[in-house]
Amino acid sequence: MDAAATLPSAPVFVRFCRELALAFNVNINGSRHSVDVDGDTPLLWVLRDVLGMTGTKFGCGIAQCGACTVHIDGAATRSCITTIDSIGNSTVTTIEAIGRTSAGQKIQQAWLDREVVQCGYCQSGQIMSATALLTVNPHPTDADINDAMAGNICRCGTYPRIRDAIKQAAGTGAKQGARE
Ligand code: FES
Ligand code: FES
Repeated sequence: MDAAATLPSAPVFVRFCRELALAFNVNINGSRHSVDVDGDTPLLWVLRDVLGMTGTKFGCGIAQCGACTVHIDGAATRSCITTIDSIGNSTVTTIEAIGRTSAGQKIQQAWLDREVVQCGYCQSGQIMSATALLTVNPHPTDADINDAMAGNICRCGTYPRIRDAIKQAAGTGAKQGARE
């Protein structure tokens, strides 16, 4: 058998090497995704522009607003400053899958019950931060909530409702309707 006949052509081999060098295999919402981007590409870009997962929002791009918050291994993380090559084998969770967790379900229901959302732009990030808090601290104090949510900015000023909703989800808040 002619050995040369079993070798890939030069263009195929070059493409194979390039894919090996540039493809990142990332666990997002329980599924593996192979993305062919430069290593310093922000996760936010990959989510929105490569994978079409647009629930995670772009706000400032410099870790100042919280709109881009996702979970990496359960921790609230700003995806705008998280490069794809830093993720490795960690698991990424986005707003699209937050309802799969018990804490995420409680937060989502409380957000609905308390009618938190105004324009909505910041709310993906708010929900991701609130869920990360409740997952590690099921009964947060006001100070805990302040600390966890301090990096999430809302131009519509939904902060009081966010606080009420987190307390409802935690089972520590006033009954719905007692707020106003
Ligand atoms: S877009 Fe990432 S913190 Fe503002
Ligand atoms: S709901 Fe409009 S920015 Fe927060």
